Amino acid sequence: MLVHIKNIVKKAQQNGYAVGAFNIINLESILGVAQAAVKTKSPIIMQVSESAIKYMGLKPVVHLVSTVAKNVGALVPVALHLDHGGDLDIVYECINAGFTSIHIDASNLPFDENVNLTKQVVKFARPKNVWIQGEIGSIVGGHGEIGKTLKEIPQAKLEDVVKFVQQTKVDTIAAAIGTAHGVYENEDINFHLLKNIKTMTKKVFVLHGGSGISNQKIKKAIKLGVNIINIGSDIKIAFCQTLISVCAKNKKEMDPRNLLKPTIKAVELVVIDKIKLFGSANQVTFKNLDSWK
Ligand code: G3H
Ligand code: ZN
Repeated sequence: MLVHIKNIVKKAQQNGYAVGAFNIINLESILGVAQAAVKTKSPIIMQVSESAIKYMGLKPVVHLVSTVAKNVGALVPVALHLDHGGDLDIVYECINAGFTSIHIDASNLPFDENVNLTKQVVKFARPKNVWIQGEIGSIVGGHGEIGKTLKEIPQAKLEDVVKFVQQTKVDTIAAAIGTAHGVYENEDINFHLLKNIKTMTKKVFVLHGGSGISNQKIKKAIKLGVNIINIGSDIKIAFCQTLISVCAKNKKEMDPRNLLKPTIKAVELVVIDKIKLFGSANQVTFKNLDSWK
């Protein structure tokens, strides 16, 4: 069932776990994520990037996610979120299309410009009951990349994060704390910085670049108060590796569904593992179903 992201995050905060914000890129990944949530009785966030919107179209994304959430995912809370929105037209279109939260990512701009643009979006979105995620200190990397070492993984300055949160009044905050988009040898989490950000801002912290971080570090980050963890690359990798191997073994197959069906399962398995790791499994019961609405 489709719900507001705030209902999902509120319970994660109360009960000390994190909810996965899983990047969806096509029908197969939407189905895989939804099935994983149902099998583990977990709330989930389905998030879509601008490039995924360009690939599928905004209306198809909204209709696909809504329909899957109402049918396959009828017994689990699902929230729809825009990830790394940099184009204001897309951000506003998503707000008007019924997303319950959007990420305005102006982290590549100088501090004051980032603040101004984020504030502009807060002013537009808040009266419409849409949550806003802001970002400070760009999270580097390339989605889907595996095994390389990044030259540098810059981190945000604590005082900038605090000032940014105070000035923009965002609902959730993303900041560069050592992770990267993709799976890199040298990504890490600066726990000291994370702890200070949580103490000083008291905001919902969104950990970006969740792929490529060890289970032990993810657990420690959740203990320090991370309530949303973004997973993109691990989904793409599972999807592509499965598709490549199925195609290699079935070179004469002419029904695309036979080639694509295993990718749904591959996404499902990755997401089930993450849900269990994040502690959000078994949070949804028949008894408490109405309390998520
Ligand atoms: O915004 C999306 C995420 O931060 C995904 O990062 O590709 O490293 O899982 P990831
Ligand atoms: Zn990200």
